[in-house]
Amino acid sequence: MKIMVVGGGGREHAIIKKLKENKEITEIFALPGNGGMAKDATLVNIGAKDISAIVDFAKNNNIDYAVVAPDDPLVLGCVDALNEIGIDCFGPNKAAAIIEGSKVFSKNLMKKYNIPTAEYEVFSDLDAALKYLDTAPIPTVIKADGLALGKGVIIAETREDAKEAVRSMMEDKIFGESGSNVVIEEFLTGPEVSVLSFTDGKTVVPMVSSMDHKRALDGDKGLNTGGMGTIAPNPYYTEAVAKECMEKIFIPTINAMNAENRTFKGCLYFGLMLTPKGPKVIEYNCRFGDPETQVVLPLLESDLLTIMKATTNGTLSDCDVKFKDGAAACVVMASLGYPQKYDSGFDLIIDKSVEDSVYVAGAKLVDGSLKTAGGRVLGVTATAGSLGDAINAAYGKVNFVEFENAYYRKDIGKKAMEVK
Ligand code: AMP
Ligand code: GLY
Repeated sequence: MKIMVVGGGGREHAIIKKLKENKEITEIFALPGNGGMAKDATLVNIGAKDISAIVDFAKNNNIDYAVVAPDDPLVLGCVDALNEIGIDCFGPNKAAAIIEGSKVFSKNLMKKYNIPTAEYEVFSDLDAALKYLDTAPIPTVIKADGLALGKGVIIAETREDAKEAVRSMMEDKIFGESGSNVVIEEFLTGPEVSVLSFTDGKTVVPMVSSMDHKRALDGDKGLNTGGMGTIAPNPYYTEAVAKECMEKIFIPTINAMNAENRTFKGCLYFGLMLTPKGPKVIEYNCRFGDPETQVVLPLLESDLLTIMKATTNGTLSDCDVKFKDGAAACVVMASLGYPQKYDSGFDLIIDKSVEDSVYVAGAKLVDGSLKTAGGRVLGVTATAGSLGDAINAAYGKVNFVEFENAYYRKDIGKKAMEVK
């Protein structure tokens, strides 16, 4: 069986490594993948947004099943295009991917179907937004409507900062057309939890919960990044919270999407905040989170391909989705300076002893040797019986990866360890 995975980061490497446990799979193609995955997949030099080239490749190479992992191709309709030529996919179609593709859509969906989220207003007119900010509660949160490489959210501590944020999005278009509409929403407080779920549009099966570490520096300081590390399970996500989320958020969201004729199939990611007034949705993603996937999939005991196909076929309720007991921790190793300016092109040496635990995000092969080629270079994951042991093991493995200007947070999982 031939599988194609669209995307090229650490998340895709984690998906590919997990898929490889299925012995029916004879070949996995990564489009475009990256040099660090060359031992696990055949790299194909086609960008994740080049839908027509992806479709041609699938047709010409007799692909049996495709996994579309990143937000961009999902929102662009990659799954629809592959389905049209008869190829089954893991991932939502374009109509359903809008749950991540438009914040205005997702906020209005939650309001219409009573799904708990922050209070908000939508603006398409700059002056109206500025006027609203004269009296809006501060701090406030400004969000660009469309995809913005995970950077479209600004938390403003003062009225002036809020106005500046709105101007930068609506007038200066720092996020392009994504900022034509903005959502201005209530600032919420509380621990954050990521819950990835499998769904076939009828059944929703949450995966083990996780915690991202989005800030660049220790102690949650510095700029927001794509994620500097993760742990799973998230200790704030108790059984009681899980039950409440299932009843008030997960099932209502699946039902709401069906009611809107936008049945969601694939991985639906719930970014939650556990506020004093109960769990609320901060954001939906229409895909596996990164680096959450790098702790969630290593804890998955069941076969990933079987589950993925069940989400496509609508048979998820018959499917075994089991996670191991214990915990996982992932430490992201980045290029010093990320998420701003950084140098790359350095030799990347991953000792054989830790190869299985490494998910490469930013590397390329140059004359057969691996060089760094990105801000986030890779994630190092360990699983263990307890969270403390997983964290120690992950940091132990970090010592077996070398590249110049390597930077990583030293406190991944520290906050989670302090939860009583
Ligand atoms: P992302 O959407 O992944 O760029 O992340 C945005 C981050 O901003 C979230 O992980 C939260 O930490 C924060 N955030 C987003 N919305 C709110 C809100 N309404 N109140 C407080 N923090 C928020
Ligand atoms: N880790 C958050 C995301 O994947 O968007």
